[in-house]
Amino acid sequence: MIIRSKPKSQPVSSEITKEADYVSRRRFIAGITAAGVGAAMIPAVRRDPESSAPLQDEPNSFDEITSYNNFYEFGLGKEDPAANAHSMVTSPWTVTVDGLCSNPGEYHLEDFMKPSALEDRVYRLRCVEAWSMVIPWQGFPLADVVRRAEPTGSARYVAFETLWDPAQMPERRWRPRNGWPYREGLRLDEAQHPLALLVTGLYGKTLPNQNGAPLRLAVPWKYGFKSIKSIVRMTFTEEMPATTWSATTPGEYGFFANVNPQVSHPRWSQARERRIGELRRRETLMFNGYADEVASLYDGLDLARWF
Ligand code: MTE
Repeated sequence: MIIRSKPKSQPVSSEITKEADYVSRRRFIAGITAAGVGAAMIPAVRRDPESSAPLQDEPNSFDEITSYNNFYEFGLGKEDPAANAHSMVTSPWTVTVDGLCSNPGEYHLEDFMKPSALEDRVYRLRCVEAWSMVIPWQGFPLADVVRRAEPTGSARYVAFETLWDPAQMPERRWRPRNGWPYREGLRLDEAQHPLALLVTGLYGKTLPNQNGAPLRLAVPWKYGFKSIKSIVRMTFTEEMPATTWSATTPGEYGFFANVNPQVSHPRWSQARERRIGELRRRETLMFNGYADEVASLYDGLDLARWF
């Protein structure tokens, strides 16, 4: 991410909550249905915009995926996470589930994952910085965890936190405006969507630390900063949670962060992107190519305002 403050242009906090609420309530129901039936239909391909024929995306190499990273706790350079994160201790690992749910708890990672089966999902990852990759993840649906937690009727969002352990995390030059840990969040219907994945591996191997071991999110229709790494806490909330990038630079990074070629970042266009390993620029696809699956989540929402 590129760091610079700009005057904010997106409404924040309770104003956003109110505006988004009606969508949230409606989609809560739809989300449950989709989570129940959708798992077998996960697309690993994108479609040709004219013919709708599937286009296979070639995955990036293991080396590319594990050597060009954003994980600011380990430094601001793309090579820093691979150089600095290898010593992070990822076992044992505890995930706390709390907030507005009937089944809160502290879980060892192994218990947190049960009884979900691991699935292979090849997803595009589009960073807000206008580069992209194609990554063969292994993981399990976030919807499984949401279902087991049994969010109460007033829960509308899920907030996530990354581990914050300064003894293991060397970054000292930069600090988010709302402090560490790195925080992210999803609306509950987004979290229940069958594409939202909790990731534990890539290329069939245990997830490398620089990619967010031992547990990260992959939300492929959103800019990569929503895909929070090394998760230690999930909290169900009524209010839209403050997230690291939207709190630090609200005029540049919104809560929704849906990939959208028509809505420019204040300092660059989002119309095109560079796939890591290629020289040519590709057209950026609406919702990163997952519009058929997710566009209905945002019916009635002004995507330029709620970027
Ligand atoms: N999670 C944490 N905790 N810290 C970070 O700095 N960077 C985000 C996201 N998750 C980040 C994070 C950004 S900006 C991107 S693009 C993706 O991780 C990058 O994932 P990758 O390094 O596996 O490609």
